[in-house]
Amino acid sequence: MIALFSKVTELFFNFATMIRVFENIDLRERNSFHVAQRAMRLVEFDKAEELPTLFEELCSERWMVLSGGNNILFTRDYDGTLITPCGCDIRVVAENEHEVEVEVEAGLEWDDLVQWCVERGLWGIENLSLIPGKVGAAPVQNIGAYGVEAKDAIRAVTMYVPESGKFLTLAAEHCDFGYRESVFKQSLRGKVVITSVTFRFGKEPRPILGYGDVIREVEARGGATLSNIREAICDIRRSKLPDTAVLGNAGSFFKNPVVDVAVAERLRVDYPEMPLYPLAEQGKVKLATGWLIDKAGLKGSRDGAVGVHERQALVLVNHGGATGGEVIAFARKVQERVKECFGIEIDTEVNIL
Ligand code: EPU
Repeated sequence: MIALFSKVTELFFNFATMIRVFENIDLRERNSFHVAQRAMRLVEFDKAEELPTLFEELCSERWMVLSGGNNILFTRDYDGTLITPCGCDIRVVAENEHEVEVEVEAGLEWDDLVQWCVERGLWGIENLSLIPGKVGAAPVQNIGAYGVEAKDAIRAVTMYVPESGKFLTLAAEHCDFGYRESVFKQSLRGKVVITSVTFRFGKEPRPILGYGDVIREVEARGGATLSNIREAICDIRRSKLPDTAVLGNAGSFFKNPVVDVAVAERLRVDYPEMPLYPLAEQGKVKLATGWLIDKAGLKGSRDGAVGVHERQALVLVNHGGATGGEVIAFARKVQERVKECFGIEIDTEVNIL
């Protein structure tokens, strides 16, 4: 172990400008729930080319990627190396009169990419404004909001595969994207480090305004320009979702459940006002977990330092000093209550470690 440590330190010294290493690190500021777990080591890298050497040195150690820490709940200390991508370059790789293809390094803040697109008149991800997290994490859970998902713009994902020592680029059609799902949460989970994502954006307007209050908010700003849509979405999000800098949270803690139409119709008898989202998949419908938790009377409820957010019941919050274990215990109670009230099981969306 000691030998390994000195080797690793030497490596980090040699690549001091591109790799930064932190031993026995407090993770409080690196997870949006702000739970105070620690990791044995965390390595930040800027350039993908550093990864083969880095993994050679860390070969037998436990590792995982920690990106922006916005969709993770640590319930214990991590006895291994966390790898955080920091490269932020955006490179135009192809362009014609209708579209632009750009390759973006995994460490760029997602919302900086949205801003970059809006400033250049590029359409596709404006509805995904203000989603916290980095570009490399976007394909993992196929982030989505207001009728758009990251998969709609993603063309390919490039990653390093430590087991083979090779880089691999996977076309979007092989990423198995679904609602908050992808191959990166399934068979490639824990096996790859995403280094860049390639997107295709449109030059012609193609506003998607059909979800909730979006059209009203956009029209109130004078119509469907890119900057009006971005501003409307940012305002809607700010009015409902807590700022992680102020109140620890990881966005939606639960997924919206997909159920058979028959199940939804039975519930609709007792709750005619219940929102339903028909899916392309035949005979299936998505329910709104936020509505179910709210209707179960839990919105704004609290148990010690953990609670349900008072403006969006899908979000659990750390009012200050909660441990990951306390958050999980509270989440279980919410799940049980929803099951008791509606007979519906809700799954967590956040990664629990
Ligand atoms: N609702 C309530 N009470 C609540 C919350 C919601 O009655 O406390 C109702 C709303 O009135 C609406 C329905 O439930 O009729 C759906 O609510 P909302 O439009 O706020 O969306 P959501 O289904 O709760 C999903 C995403 C969000 C995304 C929004 C907008 C998931 C798990 N969550 O939430 O994503 O911003 O749609 O598109 O799919 C995230 O993933 O972290 C996230 C915030």
